[in-house]
Amino acid sequence: MVHMEPIARPTYFRREPASRAFPDSTAPHQTRPQNPMIDTDQAVLDYTPDVAARTRPIYERVKDVIPEPEWPVHAPYIAAINELKKQRNAKLVVHNYQTPEIFYGVADYTGDSLGMAQYGAETDADVILVCGVRFMAETAKILSPEKMVLLPDMDAGCSLAASITAEEVRMLKEQHPGAPVVTYVNTYADVRAESDICCTSANAVKVVESLGAERVIFIPDGYLGRYVAGETDVEVILWEGYCEVHERFTAAEMLEMREAWPGIHIMAHPECPPDVLDEADFVGSTSGMIRHVSDTRPERVFMMTECSMSDNVAVEFPDVDFVRPCNLCPHMKQITLPKILRSLETLAPAIDVEPEIAARAKLAMDRMLEVGRPSATT
Ligand code: 13P
Ligand code: SF4
Repeated sequence: MVHMEPIARPTYFRREPASRAFPDSTAPHQTRPQNPMIDTDQAVLDYTPDVAARTRPIYERVKDVIPEPEWPVHAPYIAAINELKKQRNAKLVVHNYQTPEIFYGVADYTGDSLGMAQYGAETDADVILVCGVRFMAETAKILSPEKMVLLPDMDAGCSLAASITAEEVRMLKEQHPGAPVVTYVNTYADVRAESDICCTSANAVKVVESLGAERVIFIPDGYLGRYVAGETDVEVILWEGYCEVHERFTAAEMLEMREAWPGIHIMAHPECPPDVLDEADFVGSTSGMIRHVSDTRPERVFMMTECSMSDNVAVEFPDVDFVRPCNLCPHMKQITLPKILRSLETLAPAIDVEPEIAARAKLAMDRMLEVGRPSATT
């Protein structure tokens, strides 16, 4: 049930500054974009016969999604990173939106926001290097304050995280006294510190229902909040923040897809607009979509989410045809192999969260981790 009163918002949601090196994220969908991971500012490491031999098994896995001429650029970084992370006792936690050379080349863990949080809470590594965006690195630091948490580029932001401040959460609490605050983890630590419980796209409905409240404040994703409201009887007070990647998908393009490819199976992330979710055959978190492909093996799918997802999933399911119009997340694409290597070498940039804020944010996140993942499909 959606709370229909207009929401007092002093500011409209702020976009993160557009990325320097990548396509304009407001441009029409890019189909198979040129790989932005080749960072021409970096000194290129040598592709020696030893590196070629060591990275050959990885290339064999990804050869359908990484053109062969690109491999000599990636391979020396992959070899160097895999060597250095052992010396550093570092684990690389990689989100599903990272490009295949990172996802398959250097990850110790791959998954969605919830899986990354759970892994970060459990690993005994000295260093966690997050291949994702800053709110994900803050999650790792809050759950493991004693560990060093590295984010290879501090400019890896998120339009949702930028859409709300701690002060605005305090204002919402004043406007709706007694309503618990459920906060999507795509937010910064000071916002989570003002919250009763966190959630991810995988467990948002279960988290809202776990509170036993008649109404909740749900921040900051207005579309995810509307999706949750449609799945529960709890009244949901919304905040109008949006993901700049998912808000651009439309129901009209889904209908075009269905006409062009009769029988196509369309999957959508719950950060997409409501008419897109209504038209989708499956709605789920990034890992939920992967599990759904694995369980149902559709002949042809269209994933309404970030570009790299389809490439990564296509590697695992060569029998499934992935139709790939997509939107790039300019923040996720800030992470590159050369920056990962530099970060492991210099042990910087390291994430720091003020201890008092971290302690309060951790309470909200621990409550979410107790709720966990509702089923094998979300
Ligand atoms: P999940 O991986 O939790 O589905 O989140 C998607 C996302 O947009 C993260 O930035
Ligand atoms: Fe944020 Fe959207 Fe990028 Fe995820 S895909 S990091 S929600 S801007």
